This record gives sequence, structure tokens and C-alpha cells, in this order.
Amino acid sequence: MDKTILRDITYGMYIVSSGNDEIKAGCIINTLTQITSDNPIVTISLNKNNYTNQIIKQTKKVAISILSEKVNPNLIATFGFKSSSEIDKFTDFKYEDINGIPVILDEVVGYIIGDVLDIIDCETHDIFIIKLTDSKKLSNLKPMTYTYYHEVIKGKAPKNAPTYVEEDIVNTKEEIYVCDVCGYVHKGPLPDNFVCPICGVDVSHFKAKN
Ligand SMILES: Cc1cc2nc3c(=O)[nH]c(=O)nc-3n(C[C@H](O)[C@H](O)[C@H](O)COP(=O)(O)O)c2cc1C
Repeated sequence: MDKTILRDITYGMYIVSSGNDEIKAGCIINTLTQITSDNPIVTISLNKNNYTNQIIKQTKKVAISILSEKVNPNLIATFGFKSSSEIDKFTDFKYEDINGIPVILDEVVGYIIGDVLDIIDCETHDIFIIKLTDSKKLSNLKPMTYTYYHEVIKGKAPKNAPTYVEEDIVNTKEEIYVCDVCGYVHKGPLPDNFVCPICGVDVSHFKAKN
């Protein structure tokens, strides 16, 4: 099987969140698909190891914020590379409790909110089928696509993302350093004060590859 063709499937970029009075969880996803229109239903795929998956199974409620091209890269670093089981990801960003769910509003296009209708077990991941109960468009900003994230922001997806691919770093004479947190590849000499442009960690997290 040639898995490289999977990189040509197109997606958007989102934050899925959930919670109640005691706990808040959220993470970056790209795997959102609209299934129906009159009775709006969408699906998302969530790794079973992601804390957000466990919280959605408890609350059965989900919010999905549609990220724009203007999104703060720290939002992606926090929600895409850290776990809500260890930190409160929401404190540094604009969010509101809407219908009891924390919803990220920082430079987003808008949000949708819904209830979990069903969950399908897909080995490492679960597909959540979500019936929408509320939605709001908040700006005319351009929605960020997964391709924009890769090509313009030069971002990567971590191992828990369904679309994760191992980097092919082949026979180059350039020095190559790879971030052990987010997989960002830096080509050329690495300055001592270098900070990962995707997840914000320092040079100690960069491993030489050649
Ligand atoms: C670009 C990008 C796309 C991602 N897509 C998904 C996805 O569709 N499903 C998923 O489970 N994780 C996805 N992830 C990974 C989660 O966001 C990441 O594992 C997060 O740290 C989980 O946080 P949590 O433990 O608080 O739920 C993606 C991450 C990035 C950066």
C-alpha cells in the first residue's frame, strides 16, 4: 500500500472541546466531516489516548471551533501537542462557556456545538457521530486548511493524529534537526537560542538526524 497518497486528502483545522464545571478538555483535529444537512450531523475521529476523547465520552457534548488562517500558533502548540490531563489549555486564550461547554473563540471563523449520537470503535481511534444543536459564524476570516497548516505555517501532526506520517529525511548533505515534541524539521545549523516555531520548545528538544 502506498500511504503517501493519503497526504493528498484535504481537510480543515479545528479545536474540539468539551467539559463541565470540574474539567475542561480540548485538542486540535483535522478529521471533521459533515454527514447530513437538514438534520445537521458531523463526525470527528479522536485517538483513544487523547484526554478529550475520554471527556467527550463522559459529557456526550462537543464544541468545534473552526480555526482561521490568522490563528495564534501558540493555540495550535497548546491544543495540538499538550494534554488536557496535565494542563488547563484554556487559560491563555479567549474562550466562553456556551451551553456548559468551553468554546475557543480566539481568531476563529465560528463554532458548532452538538450532542454525541453514537461512537464507532476504529481500533486506535473512535469516530464520534455528533448531532448539531447550535452554531455561530463569528468572522469573515479565511478558514485554515490542513494544507495551509503544512505549507505556510510548516506545521506537523503528532503521533496521536490520525493523519500522522513519519518524516522521510533522505540523503541530504544539510544538517537536519528534528523536534522531539512536534516533529518540526529544521535544516541548517541550529542557533543556541532557537525556539521551535510550531510548539515553542528550546534547542534541547532538537535531535540531529545526520
Ligand atoms: C494538525 C493536527 C491535527 C490533529 N488531528 C487530530 C485528529 O483529527 N484526531 C486526534 O485524535 N488527534 C489529532 N491531533 C492530535 C491532538 O491534537 C493531540 O494529541 C493533543 O495533544 C491531544 O490533547 P488532549 O490529550 O488534551 O486531548 C492533531 C494534532 C495536530 C497538530
